[in-house]
Formats: sequence, structure tokens, C-alpha cells
Amino acid sequence: MKIVTSIHDLRTERHLLSGSVGFVPTMGFLHAGHISLVAAARAECDHVIVSIFVNPTQFGPNEDLAKYPRDLPRDLALLETAGVDLVWTPTVEVMYPTGFQTWVQVEALTRRLEGEVRPTHFRGVTTVVAKLFHAVGPDKAYFGQKDAQQAAVVRRMTKDLDIPIEIVVCPTLREPDGLAMSSRNMYLSPAERQAATILFRALSAAKSAYDSGERIAERLRAIVSSTVVSESLAKLQYVSCADYDSLEELETVRGKTLISMAVFMGKTRLIDNFVIG
Ligand code: PAJ
Repeated sequence: MKIVTSIHDLRTERHLLSGSVGFVPTMGFLHAGHISLVAAARAECDHVIVSIFVNPTQFGPNEDLAKYPRDLPRDLALLETAGVDLVWTPTVEVMYPTGFQTWVQVEALTRRLEGEVRPTHFRGVTTVVAKLFHAVGPDKAYFGQKDAQQAAVVRRMTKDLDIPIEIVVCPTLREPDGLAMSSRNMYLSPAERQAATILFRALSAAKSAYDSGERIAERLRAIVSSTVVSESLAKLQYVSCADYDSLEELETVRGKTLISMAVFMGKTRLIDNFVIG
């Protein structure tokens, strides 16, 4: 496994890889969810490239950039075991050199859900992902359903900018009790960690109502919020029942639908979602 930092070295090593290339962009502190994306890439492509970069431009001023967890030696060991060919670990100076002033912005899709409460987040995501895509030049790129809106926004950007990369979205990996795996779970106190299963329980309750025939979106949202309210350590930020592609809020559930939510467990913000229909 090769490890590179500069864009020049990345391009040199990239050109030595013949055949198809799968790419998994990450912010490190890897868990089994990230490794499942690597496994999907390995299964479908001749080579796998992973980037590790805690992207400052996608964090808001009051978010957790400074304390975002990092453990590069552990990440590299996990990626080596997972059979990755090339790891790119750019620095902030490599990605955003002095004078940087060009941004990639997807519009309507990023004003909803996460974008409504994190107004500069997706501009940071799309800018860095566009730069990573340009530098790596993969055939396919792998994203998790856990960040459903991110996947939708990246898909839109790729289409709108005619980027010749196939976007593959992989299922959310969960802990045995249902909590979606996330680098941010390590912030949770033992009590918060136990209470955090409320996200999965709330989504499961909405899904079973849907499975029993409920199609009124507001009732599905109400099931999620009343379940979350029952957990005193949890504070619901938003709940959404929206069209899977446009992310527009629905009145009636018809086609593929995203039920998603953000919850504060103390200071830690967790997101999760189910796709129904
Ligand atoms: P990060 O949070 O490190 O996540 C990297 C990828 O792993 C994302 O596509 C995310 O959806 C996926 N992932 C996270 N938890 C998962 C889980 N439990 N199951 C399956 N996949 C999971 O998302 C980012 O980094 C950044 O925004 C990035 C795209 C790298 C741009 O900076």
C-alpha cells in the first residue's frame, strides 16, 4: 500500500494503476462502515484509492473541527488489511493553498435538511469532493447511505458537471443495537451511548407504521418525534419525510422516500435515516 500527500505524488502513483479504480473519500478515524465502502470498491474495481482528509471547509464555526477524532496509524493499518492500493492524506495546505477562492455549490438540494441547519456544510463537501475527484480520476466513487443528503448532493454535482465517475451508495453499517456507526459516536458518554439507540428505534417505529399502511408523511414524522421525545437525553433537531431524489418534504408517501433526522445527545450531533417505499 502506497501513501502519498502531495497532488503530484498522487497523480504519479495513480497513473501506475492500470484497470478500473474505485475511490473512497473519508475524514479518517475509520470504522467498519468506512471499511464496507472499501470492500465494495474492491469487489467491483481492479484498484482502490482512499483519501483521508478532515476537510475544514465543511465544518461550521461552532462545530467540532478542532476536536474531530484522528488516528492515522490505526487508519493506515485498517486500510492495509482491507487491501487498499493507494492512500492519499493531503494536508490543509495541499487542498487549500493561500489564495484559494473557488467553490462548487449545488443549490436547491443543499438548502433542505442538513443544509438548513448547517448552511455552509455542503459547499465545503462539494468543493472538496470535486477536488478529490479531479485529482484521483477514479471510475467509481463510494459513499454511505448514512449521509443520504451528501450522497444525493454529490450525485447531483457529478451529473451537473459531467464528471465521468459512477457514484455508488452503500448501506449504513450499524452496531448490534442499531446505532449507525459514526466517527462521532466516540464523543458519547456511556449513558448517551445507550440512549443513542433512540434514533434507530424512532426510525424503526416509523417504518413499521409505513409497513402497516401509513402513508401520511406528517404522521410518520410525528412517530419519529414522539419516540425521540421519550428519551430525556435526546434533543430532536429536525425530522424529515421527503422524496428520495429531490428531498422535498412530502404530504403523502408514494415512491422512494427518505425518513431522516438529526438529534443532539448532549453536545454530540447524530444523524440517521431509513429509505422506504
Ligand atoms: P466521513 O464521515 O469520514 O465518511 C466517509 C464515508 O463513509 C461517507 O460516504 C459516509 O457516508 C460513509 N459512512 C459513514 N458512516 C457509515 C456507516 N455507518 N455505514 C456506511 N457508510 C458510512 O462523509 C465524509 O467523511 C466527508 O463528508 C467526505 C465525503 C469525505 C468529504 O469530506
